[in-house]
Amino acid sequence: MHSDSMAKTLFVALAVCVVCSVVVSTAAVVLKPIQEENQVNDRKRNILIAAGLLVAGEKPEEGIDTLFAKIDSRVVDLDSGEFVSDVSPDEVDETEALKTPHKHLQLSAKEDIAGIRKRENLRVVYFLRRGDDIERIILPVRGRGLWSTMYGFIALSGDGNTVEAMEFYAHGETPGLGAEIDNAAWKAGWLGKKVFDESGEIRLRVIKGKVVTDAEDAVFKIDGISGATITARGVTNLVHFWLGDQGYGPMLAKLKEERG
Ligand SMILES: Cc1cc2nc3c(=O)[nH]c(=O)nc-3n(C[C@H](O)[C@H](O)[C@H](O)COP(=O)(O)O)c2cc1C
Repeated sequence: MHSDSMAKTLFVALAVCVVCSVVVSTAAVVLKPIQEENQVNDRKRNILIAAGLLVAGEKPEEGIDTLFAKIDSRVVDLDSGEFVSDVSPDEVDETEALKTPHKHLQLSAKEDIAGIRKRENLRVVYFLRRGDDIERIILPVRGRGLWSTMYGFIALSGDGNTVEAMEFYAHGETPGLGAEIDNAAWKAGWLGKKVFDESGEIRLRVIKGKVVTDAEDAVFKIDGISGATITARGVTNLVHFWLGDQGYGPMLAKLKEERG
């Protein structure tokens, strides 16, 4: 074949395409388990940060799995608020649940304050215990911001009302604006805030502007993020949804009843 013939050019182009596609597909297949393991570890790391057992950016000396063994993972039926013992946390696949009609609740526009459209029926929640007492309750949450769905964990103390941490691990908000939800100083403002008032109403919210610290209701308010009111409103909405009746509200009420 002549070296600049059309047939040779096409053959070489085709051969390069085939070789490249084999390399890319092999890499995708080989790397998939590693990616999945990284995702699982990343989730564990975020739960440990929300539990106060790990500082963000630090590697645990004893390894993620050893540290994570201190966390009690439980499956909760969100409608009843009861823990489910015949399904293990590893068996709960939240992505699959959102694709399977009988495993999720389709939310009406009025119910869907967090902008998530569907809510899975079973969720895994995490407890840090000291003896018989619950030290922290770590709850996965998600909701729409301005550009993206924001995924995170809210950690409450054993009273089911006092915030210990608010951590987002995935979102697509704008750096310097909505992405300030990752700012350590802003997150520190959540510590010690209360979710529910005496009547059981959810009062916690991100306000516009700065919280007046000696105001009577300051305990329910989080500083706003300037230039990012829409993201901040999304954060308020997701807290109200997930700690409300269609989220962990029934479970938190049951835990409160048990505490007496
Ligand atoms: C390029 C661009 C990116 C923006 N990203 C965000 C964002 O991530 N979150 C947000 O709430 N507002 C974002 N905004 C601003 C919103 O459009 C809106 O002005 C703002 O949320 C209002 O907040 P403010 O009342 O505190 O100014 C962005 C605006 C522009 C032009």
